[in-house]
Amino acid sequence: ADNNVTISKGLEGIYIANTTLCQIDGAHGKLWYRGYPIETLADKSNYEEVAYLLLYGNLPKKKDLETFRKKLISEREVPESIADIIRTFTGRMHPNDVLRTCVSALPAFDVDMNDKSVEANLERAIKLTAKLPTIVAMIGRYKRGKPFLAPSSTLSHAANFLYMLNGVEPDSESAKLMDLMFMLHAEHGSNASTFSTLVTGSTLADVYASVVAGISTLRGPLHGGADEAALNMMRAIGNPENTETYIEDALAGKQRIMGFGHRVYKAYDPRAKIVYNYLKTFMTKTTDPTIERLLEIALRSEKLMEEKLSKTKGIWPNIDFFSGPLYTAVNIPSDLFTPVFAAARVVGWTAHLFEYWQNNRLFRPLDNYTGKLDIEYVPIDKR
Ligand code: SDX
Repeated sequence: ADNNVTISKGLEGIYIANTTLCQIDGAHGKLWYRGYPIETLADKSNYEEVAYLLLYGNLPKKKDLETFRKKLISEREVPESIADIIRTFTGRMHPNDVLRTCVSALPAFDVDMNDKSVEANLERAIKLTAKLPTIVAMIGRYKRGKPFLAPSSTLSHAANFLYMLNGVEPDSESAKLMDLMFMLHAEHGSNASTFSTLVTGSTLADVYASVVAGISTLRGPLHGGADEAALNMMRAIGNPENTETYIEDALAGKQRIMGFGHRVYKAYDPRAKIVYNYLKTFMTKTTDPTIERLLEIALRSEKLMEEKLSKTKGIWPNIDFFSGPLYTAVNIPSDLFTPVFAAARVVGWTAHLFEYWQNNRLFRPLDNYTGKLDIEYVPIDKR
């Protein structure tokens, strides 16, 4: 073994490529998509415009956005056999696994998988961006024993998702919250699921295969699964009075508090701040005791974690912490949180893939062998 090799666990601190898609200032808790501060996009933009910005590199002119929006709407439908996959597997495995399985089948409906042109791949990115929310909504419908609803051809991306899931057109506040969550989850540099997408794409596997890798990677509680886990913790706490005891016991038991900490942010995740602020405003309009209780538990957890870990170890709330109460406020069940994350992030995954393919290199890191060599092979009856 080469003993003076330095292993970078989890590739911490390793740069894999140049990008103009996203900048994260982890020390100061700042985030930009293509140079625009996330706070500005959250306040002024919408998911369709952000998706266009990520895929094409600039904010669209009015007519470009209209064309892009119509394209997304025209691609919302999914083939009947995808509905069969949803009927077959929903309830037998986690919704994120059902989503992954559906996306695995999409190449069967692609125009021509041999066409690897930039235009064909952009078409695939648009298809995936439009179809994943439909698939997630259908999984949610099936779980609730409700019939599938055909996608709207007029509602916005976010409003259509809530319509297909809940069977009613959302009010403007709920649609805005959902649009915000899609924007905030759209892109975030070389996080684990984006990296996984790039590793797969770096072998020149196709867009669908690369996105399936991303969906699979997002599933884990250390990454996209944290929002579901954080809400489950808040529900386990139940009564806000139990918050401090619960968190202290968990920390004493060396458990991780889901929704806190980040490999890059050593300050408050700016997305978590935005989620909390919009949810607080939303709550001034609706008095929902369940959400109020969840928010109280969240705030008490945040205060305790600030004293115990944030200031000392730089472990602050991340985007997954307040997402649960917000998704609950717009009637999304917790086992759909990660699939919703995937539906939003598919545009970031594909934008990174296309950027990386412009200067592709196969990912093939090294591992440091520490075993023996040239050991003698002993025949089995002599062992
Ligand atoms: C996302 O990368 C991205 O950008 C991801 C994401 C995106 O948009 O794509 O931002 C989305 O995935 C957000 C993160 C969601 N995950 C969670 O909330 C799960 C809980 N968080 C932790 O598991 C952890 O903070 C990670 C995985 C997010 C980051 O972990 P690191 O950088 O590998 O840090 P680590 O595991 O080495 O922890 C360092 C120390 C450890 O203590 P010691 O062993 O040194 O004593 O900090 C502790 C950890 O135990 N720690 C925590 C903690 N997070 C880290 N302790 C309690 N609770 C936590 N949440």
